[in-house]
Amino acid sequence: MLSHAFVLLFYITNAIALWPKPVEFSTGSEVLWLDPAVKVILRCNGEDAILTSQSPGFGEIPISAFMSIAFQFGQNVLTRFQGFTWQRRFEESKEALTEASIVQGAVHEAIKSIRDTRYVPWKLHGRHSTFEPDVTAERHHLSMLQIQQSYCPDAESFDPVTFFAADESYDIVIDNATATIQTNGTIGILWALQTFQQLFYAHSSHSGSYLPNVPMRIVDRPKWRHRGLSIDIARNPFLPSDLIRTIDAMARTKMNRLHIHATDSQSWPLEIPSLPDLARKGAYQPHLVWTAHDLNEIQVHGASRGISVFVEIDMPGHTASVAHAYPELVAAYNELDWSTFAAEPLSGQLKLNSSLVFAFVSTLLMDILPRTGRYTSLYHIGGDEVNRAAYLLDETVASDDPQVLQPLLQIFFDHVVSIAYQHGFQPIVWEEMLLDWNLTLPWVKLGGNRTVSTLVQVWRNSERIEEVLKKGHRAIFGDYHHWYLDCGFGGFLNPYPAGKSPVGVPYNTSGGHPSKLKKPYLDYCNPFHNWRDMYTYDPLANISPDLVDNVEGGEVLMWSEQTDSIDLDSKLWPRVAAAAEVLWTGVRDETMLEDASRRLGEWREREVTDFQTAVSPVHMTWCLMEGGCNL
Ligand SMILES: *[C@@H]1O[C@H](CO)[C@@H](O)[C@H](O)[C@H]1NC(C)=O
Ligand SMILES: *[C@@H]1O[C@H](CO)[C@@H](O)[C@H](O)[C@H]1NC(C)=O
Ligand SMILES: *[C@@H]1O[C@H](CO)[C@@H](O)[C@H](O)[C@H]1NC(C)=O
Ligand SMILES: *[C@@H]1O[C@H](CO)[C@@H](O)[C@H](O)[C@H]1NC(C)=O
Ligand SMILES: *[C@@H]1O[C@H](CO)[C@@H](O)[C@H](O)[C@H]1NC(C)=O
Ligand SMILES: *[C@@H]1O[C@H](CO)[C@@H](O)[C@H](O)[C@H]1NC(C)=O
Repeated sequence: MLSHAFVLLFYITNAIALWPKPVEFSTGSEVLWLDPAVKVILRCNGEDAILTSQSPGFGEIPISAFMSIAFQFGQNVLTRFQGFTWQRRFEESKEALTEASIVQGAVHEAIKSIRDTRYVPWKLHGRHSTFEPDVTAERHHLSMLQIQQSYCPDAESFDPVTFFAADESYDIVIDNATATIQTNGTIGILWALQTFQQLFYAHSSHSGSYLPNVPMRIVDRPKWRHRGLSIDIARNPFLPSDLIRTIDAMARTKMNRLHIHATDSQSWPLEIPSLPDLARKGAYQPHLVWTAHDLNEIQVHGASRGISVFVEIDMPGHTASVAHAYPELVAAYNELDWSTFAAEPLSGQLKLNSSLVFAFVSTLLMDILPRTGRYTSLYHIGGDEVNRAAYLLDETVASDDPQVLQPLLQIFFDHVVSIAYQHGFQPIVWEEMLLDWNLTLPWVKLGGNRTVSTLVQVWRNSERIEEVLKKGHRAIFGDYHHWYLDCGFGGFLNPYPAGKSPVGVPYNTSGGHPSKLKKPYLDYCNPFHNWRDMYTYDPLANISPDLVDNVEGGEVLMWSEQTDSIDLDSKLWPRVAAAAEVLWTGVRDETMLEDASRRLGEWREREVTDFQTAVSPVHMTWCLMEGGCNL
């Protein structure tokens, strides 16, 4: 009986609940308590720098605090503070960000978060079990964290290409009173510190944070370089603070790409200073404009967490909102029935053979690229769901013939891609431009011997990943059968809105679905993709092994027709975290669900307790306590 209890206790204290799962780890069963004055040493080129982990405000991004204030007090604060105050903050953060300041900020945050943790993992242990360390025993302390980087980061500047392209791997060894983190790139330090934080717990009745599995060794590196989340901020209102919060949670799952789908037909919330009417007239409300400063702060915050924040301005489809400012640039604006001219209301597409549109696109890109290029080398050029019928109503072409449209689309994207390359960007395009329209997306040599071609993002189904790879392009996976976070919340689109029967509709491409909404109002990508479904998605299932090396990574996607600031977090989490483990650790399978539910369950409890993120439950508490529900 006693020995049985001992074995169980031993097993439990040896469990290590990291999310995402590291490549290799080994653990012991000794306990170390964090010395509140833990000394942090950064070592590179044989030189030591002592980071005083207790210095206040070190590396914090002031705007986050500001944004959360704005969030609490409502939009007036945001509007009122545009102008001088914004301008100054913008300049401040621009100067503040260097690789060295990122490391210092991350160390400060990690130590603070370990020191302040309130997370007691009772849900992961049997009812009323004794799982915490004996507080009457002598406490051994972890008194030193040493970080060894194989090169010294540039203390003067920040280069997104070097920073994000660096080796992300890290090792952690914890023995006796010392933890040692070893990395090649700065970004590896950020991921190591995220892992490090997950090792500590609070005690339910005594102060201090403890680490139960010493000695410990972790060797870790990501499976894929592009580990992304895409968020559409155009269909419904969102605030910059939503993305700041999301970036923090993403970093805690080691995701490293935030794709902002910034504009769409329904609204244009993104300020473009050289084209101010776009957002002034195209946002749902003046207070819902995302200023250039907001975007800058989000990018800086992302970079400080190891996340490359990049923008998509979808073109030439999905652009009806441009017509509020520039009606002459848009064809088929708000036509009925909309289903002939767009995938969802309202229709409207940039004209395809218009010198005004070319001038507009140049101005737009010359504005957004130099700004966002300070913190990312990615830019998404759009290209999905281009509607042919809309071009019948476009007087510059007046044709829906693919043979007429294809060469014009090629010219349009040559223009966009060449501007992106000139600014040193790696463009990303939706799959249709390559697979349906057969566009040529050339390889280009950028500075520093970087050869890049346009990355192709696949969204319709997994088979298309292989088609992209066969055409010699690198691909990003995440299709709607598995990784769309908006599925299963119900259909809302009636192709013929009430009282708007399609009298005089010039062309019908609806392909035979002029159906009314009907019970139970299913959406096109139902059912809801729960975390287990996302976790067991195998993006490589249909790909021949000689092509898999050209998979760049994937994205999980949040289209926001039925989501806004209020329910964002519970729709994202824990499902984005499930996808994050696929992206970091590699393809998962069903035999891993039991282990995953316990580790993800623990990630969720920590996230809710220490960071107040509204993460939906992963499992029934009884199953977390007892285990075995998934088997
Ligand atoms: C750093 O780079 C070296 C050489 O490429 C490699 O062997 C090592 O695994 C990398 N990672 C760490 C954490 O040192
Ligand atoms: C930890 O302490 C033990 C016993 O004092 C010693 O043998 C071992 O070498 C130490 N480990 C490290 C990494 O310093
Ligand atoms: C594009 O516009 C030019 C004039 O601006 C015209 O000459 C040409 O025929 C148009 N191309 C197509 C395919 O309509
Ligand atoms: C692109 O190529 C495919 C396959 O060859 C063909 O079916 C399709 O019609 C082409 N699309 C256009 C717009 O030319
Ligand atoms: C680019 O490649 C050339 C030839 O291989 C090499 O000499 C040069 O150092 C490289 N430049 C950079 C910045 O890597
Ligand atoms: C559109 O096409 C579908 C399928 O071909 C047909 O059933 C429907 O009646 C058409 N609608 C109109 C308004 O012509």
